[in-house]
Amino acid sequence: MMKNKFEEINNANKALLATNFYNFETLKGVLLAAKDQNSSIILQMTKSSIDYLGLENAVSMAKTGLKYFGVEGWIHLDHGPNIDLVKACLDAGFDSVMYDGSELPLEQNIDNTKKVVALAEKYGANVEAELGYIAKLGQAKDKVSYTSAEDALLFVQETGVDALAVAIGTAHGFYKEKPKLDFDRLKEIKEAVKIPLVLHGGSGVPVDDVRKAIKNGICKVNVATEIKNIFMQTLKKLLSDTDEIDLRKVFPPATNAVKDLVVGKLRMVNNK
Ligand code: 13P
Repeated sequence: MMKNKFEEINNANKALLATNFYNFETLKGVLLAAKDQNSSIILQMTKSSIDYLGLENAVSMAKTGLKYFGVEGWIHLDHGPNIDLVKACLDAGFDSVMYDGSELPLEQNIDNTKKVVALAEKYGANVEAELGYIAKLGQAKDKVSYTSAEDALLFVQETGVDALAVAIGTAHGFYKEKPKLDFDRLKEIKEAVKIPLVLHGGSGVPVDDVRKAIKNGICKVNVATEIKNIFMQTLKKLLSDTDEIDLRKVFPPATNAVKDLVVGKLRMVNNK
């Protein structure tokens, strides 16, 4: 169970890499990397990816892929916007769900997260929530609302959530400037809540910063944008140089580029 793995990871002061996938080719790239590194991995999907792939398709593709490549991994809902989608994902066999009420007032985020925790308990699933403002794609990155240790403690006590995504200076998407992570804040939050903390916006965060964040309590590092980007950049370059119409010949280099990227990310997170 992912909850047990998280507990083990938390006690050992380590982290799991969580990668988003969008289609069979990006999923395959991620799984090849995990196999290559003999590493566990979290496979996550947002609502947009679920809408694109179809829920049942997405889950069976991910579960079958894990088995086929012999990789230990879990399926996770990234940024679940409402309890209905959370329930649909749990029914479809997700091991873990994130409910993201971070843009709601604290009390409402607490109330909704509580409901998700109660629901997920019946499935033995892991629940992640978010507190503070981690800019989403296209949102202003200068609107700062970092997570406070005080709010985090209240939130965790009230909701009983398993893992918490914290706003400590990262943002989703590419950075225009090097992100500045607030490690003192991270330490304070971890001392207050003790549970596994999650770093969103992993794309473009320097290796040393990610490792320092793991030392200070991060147990899950999310990477999405770089995967999408390397897949599409590789594909675009290839397509501009060829008239090949057999997609089975064109996709593999893009899948391999995802593999190479994720190998690097796994080395970063696994300290290798
Ligand atoms: P990036 O897209 O910045 O890598 O962030 C990923 C993430 O946090 C998914 O929730």
